[in-house]
Amino acid sequence: MAKYFEEIESVLKKLMVEICKENPDPSHDILHIERVVRAAKKLSELENADLNIVVPAAYLHDCEVIEKSDPQRSQVSSLSAKKALGILKELKYPEKYFDGIAHAIAAHSFSSGIVAETIEAKVLQDADRLDGLGAIGVARCFSLGGKLNRPFYSDEDPYAESRTPDDNTNNLDHFFVKLLKVANKLQTPAAKEDGRKRTEFLKAFLTQLRSEIL
Ligand SMILES: [Fe+2]
Ligand SMILES: [Fe+2]
Repeated sequence: MAKYFEEIESVLKKLMVEICKENPDPSHDILHIERVVRAAKKLSELENADLNIVVPAAYLHDCEVIEKSDPQRSQVSSLSAKKALGILKELKYPEKYFDGIAHAIAAHSFSSGIVAETIEAKVLQDADRLDGLGAIGVARCFSLGGKLNRPFYSDEDPYAESRTPDDNTNNLDHFFVKLLKVANKLQTPAAKEDGRKRTEFLKAFLTQLRSEIL
């Protein structure tokens, strides 16, 4: 059985390498997938989550790619869940895990609006969210900003002190709109602790940046 899962992991990884190659985006590439898989495995151990559900869900959680401007964007997690089950069916993965995998993938993103009901879904959601925080979170945020051609910050009021932050207009606002709030939405104790540390790093980054740009 262990050998079977090892093989499945390597097949899923190869598949995701291909999917990521078709949609080049350093903030959602195979390295993101691997970090999420690693974090999800760690959290699973601490939370007694079922790796038979968490591991395939983590590999396939972003298997469907929809551009931010596409009206179908809010359904991307559900579409990923559907696609993932198709992939796993072809691999003859045990069907008893399918419901758990589909739920974990469908609930992983903020935009889905789906509440994570199982520990496996909570673990995947936390692992994915942690990757938006800390040093890697800063790197991913600015990478995505570059892809969307957003200026780094607002010239008049970089820290949105006298305006409502809007991350459609500049990249730094993404910290205020989303990143600084993510840690409060984490579900598992281990992720909460890690999220707190990573958020401290985000704040230190903002302080340093302020001393450089103002
Ligand atoms: Fe995602
Ligand atoms: Fe992700």
